[in-house]
Amino acid sequence: MPDIRNIVILTGAGISAESGLATFRGPDGLWEGHRVEDVCTPEALARNPALVHRFYDERRAKLTEVTPNAAHAALAELDRAWPGELLIVTQNVDDLHERAGANRMLHMHGELMSALCAACGTSKPWHDALPPETPCPFCNAPALRPDIVFFGEMPYEMDRIDAALRDADLFVSIGTSGAVYPAAGFVQTARHIGARTLELNLDSSAGSIYFDETRTGPASVLVPDWVKEVLQL
Ligand code: OAD
Repeated sequence: MPDIRNIVILTGAGISAESGLATFRGPDGLWEGHRVEDVCTPEALARNPALVHRFYDERRAKLTEVTPNAAHAALAELDRAWPGELLIVTQNVDDLHERAGANRMLHMHGELMSALCAACGTSKPWHDALPPETPCPFCNAPALRPDIVFFGEMPYEMDRIDAALRDADLFVSIGTSGAVYPAAGFVQTARHIGARTLELNLDSSAGSIYFDETRTGPASVLVPDWVKEVLQL
């Protein structure tokens, strides 16, 4: 692909939908069954830790039943083959990108398979249920919580994301509704520095107007087609 060297890809729940993980918004979305403020805020964790831990325990258990789909596999292939800079920024807390083999990636909203100590700030891989007041293996405080960025908390690795966006020639957004900042604003940052912008989503989203191009359809089809195009296969 001419003039493209540095690529930043933002992924959202839509890329994992065909693996069997529910998205957040929409008729069967996770936020339909729960109010965000009941399960995804620091206040909710303080008020009702059992409910918050159970919500993430259920999602962690579900994650062990699903596998990456063709879209995750295609991005992993792009990561292996792309000679320029590449960063996959996922808002997803599942581990399907890394299970598909992607390396140049980060989780800006945290990870289901990780526990964070609210007392000492250390995180640790965690694959089982996480009861409230589980002691931290590092500082022993009974303060392990899901390693999820709650609403009102700062997403992870913003400096690294900003640096990658500043150098990007191409920004691609996949399977995200563009409803949650700061991720929803990445397209405008990319445009501002002159990168080309492409959206791959089931339907057009709230942010579609900011993209040079929007392609609509399932990620399992759109993403492998786009990767073939970019690798000129
Ligand atoms: P949303 O549920 O808001 O949006 C999912 C998007 O994926 C929608 O635009 C769908 O149209 C699209 N979609 C659904 N199925 C698809 C498919 N098979 N192929 C392609 N696209 C598909 O999820 P996110 O945008 O990821 O934050 O939500 C952003 C953040 O809001 C999440 O990271 C989460 C949530 O609150 C935290 O938990 C901190």
